[in-house]
Amino acid sequence: MGKSLFSTALAAIFASAILAVPARAADDIASRLDICSACHGADGKPTNIATPIIWGQKENYLYKELHDFHSGERFNPIMSPMVTSFSLDDLRKVASFFAAKSWPDKQAEAPAGSPPEGIAMCKACHGQNFEGGAPAPRLAGLSYDYLISAMRSFADGKRTNNLDMPGFMRALTDSQREAIAHYLSSL
Ligand code: HEC
Ligand code: HEC
Repeated sequence: MGKSLFSTALAAIFASAILAVPARAADDIASRLDICSACHGADGKPTNIATPIIWGQKENYLYKELHDFHSGERFNPIMSPMVTSFSLDDLRKVASFFAAKSWPDKQAEAPAGSPPEGIAMCKACHGQNFEGGAPAPRLAGLSYDYLISAMRSFADGKRTNNLDMPGFMRALTDSQREAIAHYLSSL
């Protein structure tokens, strides 16, 4: 076995290793995200009604929430430990990974009915059809359970990672919040 054959083989191994680096960096993030599907769904439909949809959510919002779980500005006993092994740079890639997917289709349901009291002002930030705006996340089609829990956690001061939302949510009664959450979940 000639030395040249050996060094040719080595060169080929090095070359493929070098070529594989960029592809592997991208795959690395994707392969670390399989765990997310356990709750957020392998098809974008969460496996539990209290878990939000993240497929197709606004990229800047996803990054901000991942950042806030990482820094402790938003706390959740499940999500906070979930993001600690990622760098902020990785979390940017995680946000664009999920934002690039399509918001899951939903089963046809009863029509939404007329918009409840107090909901008009939400459009300024969350979009005319609540599909999300530059400053704020999509709300249309999130589950009732997640929406009401998010609205209550702003109102009762548990979620403080935004300056405006707590006041908006406190200005509503709980039955107004329930009506809004029902309406948004039916969109
Ligand atoms: C064991 C279940 C579980 C796993 C696994 C999980 N999540 Fe979550 N995730 C949740 C729950 C529950 C919430 C809602 C937390 C709350 O109510 O504040 C959430 C919230 C989020 C949010 C905020 C969404 C919003 O609308 O505010 C993002 C972003 C997110 N998760 C991303 C991820 C990513 C990325 C992974 C994988 C690295 C992941 N999650 C793994 C259960 C999970
Ligand atoms: C001035 C802009 C603004 C207005 C008006 C506004 N919001 Fe928000 N809302 C935001 C922003 C920004 C966030 C993201 C906060 C964060 O960084 O976590 C948010 C977050 C939320 C969330 C949490 C979503 C999630 O995935 O966790 C809900 C629910 C929500 N808003 C409901 C409402 C409702 C209902 C109204 C009207 C009564 C409303 N908002 C009015 C800016 C606004």
